[in-house]
Amino acid sequence: MRSKASIKGHSLHPMLVSFPIAFFTGALVFDLLRWISGKIFYSDIAEVMIVAGIIGSIAAAIPGVIDYLYTVPPKSSGKKRAAKHGITNVCVLLIFAGTLIYRTHNGQDAITTILLLEAVAVGLMVFAGWMGGTLVARNQIGVDHRFAEAGKWKELHLQAQDGRVEITDFGELKTDQMMLVHVDGKRIVVARTESGFAAFDDHCPHRGGSLAGGAMICGTVQCPWHGSQFDVHSGAPKAGPAKTGIPVYALQLAGGKLYLQLPVSNP
Ligand code: FES
Repeated sequence: MRSKASIKGHSLHPMLVSFPIAFFTGALVFDLLRWISGKIFYSDIAEVMIVAGIIGSIAAAIPGVIDYLYTVPPKSSGKKRAAKHGITNVCVLLIFAGTLIYRTHNGQDAITTILLLEAVAVGLMVFAGWMGGTLVARNQIGVDHRFAEAGKWKELHLQAQDGRVEITDFGELKTDQMMLVHVDGKRIVVARTESGFAAFDDHCPHRGGSLAGGAMICGTVQCPWHGSQFDVHSGAPKAGPAKTGIPVYALQLAGGKLYLQLPVSNP
């Protein structure tokens, strides 16, 4: 899925995480040199690196939070992984900030304790990086992939009136293309097939992958995470691992406009 925090399709979060990774690892290395050589000078460099690492972490966290809230599909395995990734990185930040405070209260004599804490934090940072890699490589968060004839990523935010939504810009859809429509907190995919238009949930029942980020051909959409396939008109599953189908919605073409009808719940 294309990142919401990106410049021309290039995600900001993976670019910015390089800075805290470099500075925090550098702080550990310079504190290690201080421990080996006994020279305070190395510890002073480590302190500057920790401050730079904290600033870099906060800068990287901003697009990370935006992606967590608006890019990672809701109620998915990717959402849980992204939450663990974020919490682990907050722990890394707090441990390094703690070592700064610890130094000011205990002087440079506490170097062994500081080294141990920093080693734990760097280990956690590696673990967080491993989860971040899985989010990109497997969950495709921030990946703006375009399979043949899929066109550019299209996303709309619309409002429903009595459950009826006019789908603007639907004319941009060519056969086998999809757009993600956000309406009343729901994520719905509107697609064009050889036999007309179709609308279905942007939620794979297997582990919550975003179907709008998948591939569609001949009226069948394939989930980008593990390859489940669904008929976009009936919602029926055509290939696993998903065992159940997806909800589909009624569409109506009238007066040159396309309308989506959502089920209206009775009070
Ligand atoms: S999330 Fe696993 S196939 Fe869609």
